[in-house]
Amino acid sequence: MDILNDITVICFSPTHTSRTIAEAVAAGMNGKPGGTDGHAGASQQIRTVDLTLDRSDSPITVGAGETVVLGTPVYAGRVAPEAVRRLRRIQVAAGASVPAVVTVTYGNRDYEDALVELYDLAVSLGLSPFAAGAFIGEHSYSTPEMPVAEGRPDTLDLADARIFGGECARKLDSPGAFAPFHIKGNRPYKEVKHSGNQIVPETADDCPLCGECVRVCPTGAVSIDLNARKVLTDPALCIRCCACVRACPAGLRTYTTPFTAFLHEHCSARRDPETFL
Ligand SMILES: Cc1cc2nc3c(=O)[nH]c(=O)nc-3n(C[C@H](O)[C@H](O)[C@H](O)COP(=O)(O)O)c2cc1C
Ligand code: SF4
Ligand code: SF4
Repeated sequence: MDILNDITVICFSPTHTSRTIAEAVAAGMNGKPGGTDGHAGASQQIRTVDLTLDRSDSPITVGAGETVVLGTPVYAGRVAPEAVRRLRRIQVAAGASVPAVVTVTYGNRDYEDALVELYDLAVSLGLSPFAAGAFIGEHSYSTPEMPVAEGRPDTLDLADARIFGGECARKLDSPGAFAPFHIKGNRPYKEVKHSGNQIVPETADDCPLCGECVRVCPTGAVSIDLNARKVLTDPALCIRCCACVRACPAGLRTYTTPFTAFLHEHCSARRDPETFL
């Protein structure tokens, strides 16, 4: 690899954990503090293309001299469908070979087939994935009363992500960097049964209508009815990502699902990142 390759993080990350991980991997590739295995002193530029709030159709072109780090959340053991839709906008410039690291972040239950799915998506977009990692982030449905992977990614996770980034940089410099490698997961991917879930986050009556939940919603599902002085949520657009719940400065937006208690009870034992190179 030309070690002066610039690094482009491309992510979809409603509650920011997937972006945090992908950026830590990129920092490790670049030998930033904590990524002691990377190219210390290397001078790559790192830029982030965060597609969470970008609902446009405009292409995201990547080309020669770039290495891409993809970061998406796991939903139901697969890549979040909204992430798949947005990443499909990536276009590799004609004739360019663009190395890619694929990362998924999941809420301490399991990532099942998401990492192979993201790898396959990268290949189908014309990228050249050569490393993959599954990391842990606080579960979207975690609450203060019933936490699930609370506070993750934490300092240990970020150190692991940066170390992985260093390993990625070294692999890119080695002969045979693009040889086939094993990634945990199944093909065909697990089927996701659509539950017909119509539950959406709710807003308490004393909401001051600050509009933050409207701003952070990736799908435009939230609006404010000024006449009724109410926050409205469109169940057909809502992907239950909980970005609005996390972002509400007054703690007045909540999402109540029986799944939270299940996760709290059964998925609290700490899981560690898994990487494949
Ligand atoms: C609809 C939905 C489905 C999810 N499914 C899973 C899952 O199958 N396994 C898991 O461990 N976490 C699951 N999660 C939790 C997220 O993967 C996790 O919280 C992740 O860190 C969110 O990424 P983000 O911060 O980039 O939005 C799910 C979250 C949502 C909203
Ligand atoms: S972010 Fe919270 S306080 Fe602001 S409008 Fe939404 S629910 Fe109301
Ligand atoms: S309304 Fe639904 S899609 Fe929008 S931020 Fe909230 S949970 Fe996510």
